Amino acid sequence: MNTSHPLFTAALQAFHQAYAPYSGFPVGAAILSSEGRIYAGCNVENISYPCGSCAEQSAISAMITGGDRHIQEIVILADGKDLITPCGACLQRLNEFGTPETLVHLGTPQGIQKTLSLAQLLPFGFNDKALRK
Ligand code: THU
Repeated sequence: MNTSHPLFTAALQAFHQAYAPYSGFPVGAAILSSEGRIYAGCNVENISYPCGSCAEQSAISAMITGGDRHIQEIVILADGKDLITPCGACLQRLNEFGTPETLVHLGTPQGIQKTLSLAQLLPFGFNDKALRK
């Protein structure tokens, strides 16, 4: 995916809107839903640190609010030295609305560095089978 792709530009725009005064680590995410629409989100921190939200969480909330329910692809951008990968809680959130084939594109404002499937990132996520007795 190149930097002029609409999913990349949506994630980059969100990255620039991030509210991250405590960590100094802005993150932007953009989802392409299976219904063909794009939803973006950024991290939103809080002086009470555990009250903050991750960018993926914000993008998922926007998708659900927009009426879509399935994640086809997601771009996640941050400006760290190392590759950004979603936190464990966000992997579980992505698992709720994605499939094992959902593509997760990881990168910086300069471009995508790596694309992994959700199954590669979360091979043994908690799922509804575990709830069956
Ligand atoms: N963060 C995200 O938004 N997404 C991730 O995948 C990893 C971490 C945020 C949470 C916090 O606002 C900041 O990055 C530093 O942890």
